[in-house]
Amino acid sequence: EDWRERGSASATRQESDSNGQTHTRVVKKGVKDFNFGRTLGEGSYSTVLAATDRQNLKEYAIKVLDKRHIIKEKKVKYVNIERDTLNRLTEHPGVVRLYYTFQDERSLYFVLDLASGGELLGVLKKMGSFDVECTRFYGAEILDSVAYMHSRGVIHRDLKPENVLLDREMHVKITDFGTAKILPDPQKRAVGGDGSSGDPMDGAETDRAVSFVGTAEYVSPELLRDKNACKASDLWAFGCIIYQLLAGRPPFKAANEYLTFQKILALDYTFPDGFPEVARDLVERLLVLDPTSRLPVEHIRNHRFFEGVQWGKALWRQKAPRLK
Ligand code: ADE
Repeated sequence: EDWRERGSASATRQESDSNGQTHTRVVKKGVKDFNFGRTLGEGSYSTVLAATDRQNLKEYAIKVLDKRHIIKEKKVKYVNIERDTLNRLTEHPGVVRLYYTFQDERSLYFVLDLASGGELLGVLKKMGSFDVECTRFYGAEILDSVAYMHSRGVIHRDLKPENVLLDREMHVKITDFGTAKILPDPQKRAVGGDGSSGDPMDGAETDRAVSFVGTAEYVSPELLRDKNACKASDLWAFGCIIYQLLAGRPPFKAANEYLTFQKILALDYTFPDGFPEVARDLVERLLVLDPTSRLPVEHIRNHRFFEGVQWGKALWRQKAPRLK
């Protein structure tokens, strides 16, 4: 089997030899370097456990993946996608950071940022819905994180409130890159845009993602219609999330997946009474069937709904608003 190890971070250790010379040895972290604690989450191929680095007592979330199960279910590709995308996305506070990867006979281990506030979905369910201030704050942090991913050539493809985690200070950490897509390097592309035009379809993947469909409620119409996801597909999901934070439920929801897909393709949704007018205008510009006509990131930042937001580093230094 080919569980390549490239890109994984490693620690160093200073060693002195018999001549008094100091050498720096690269030491790879392993299972023995951590104390494992409570279960944070369980997926079909993985379990996420809280863990502490025995050397410095730093806390992490470690995703443990069962190798046999992954091979049997033909998910090796997705595990590699997750590791490769996370290794590309190490310079932003809004993305769960991958610190180390290692393995033993049975399992693969991804050592990640611990997001002790849990899923945004859990917080939303507890509150019912968010007010405009909280929606603006969480919306802004999600958008800033998505803009970063896109700038690094990554489309998430499964954005939803379950994949938006919160850290101890209630700031956003986006997770679950197992279904992400790495776009070809714009510099190396023979034809097409250079990613600087501001067109949401610039840098869109041209090869078809054969059978992938994300979570029904947040899937974009272009993925259902053409089996083709692009950066703008993440912005469709972002529009669904903004709607959900304010309304307490996603815009497209039906008794089963098929009916949900039909609603998405027909743009069949309505706003509940009292849905704020400015937010409605933003959502209506995001839930647009044609991905090329969807509001691009720069225009979303400048939309009246986000008026007053300090974008960039200040957003992440800000104190999260109290949930109400
Ligand atoms: N559940 C899944 N991933 C997690 C993480 N990084 N932190 C906390 N809980 C999680």
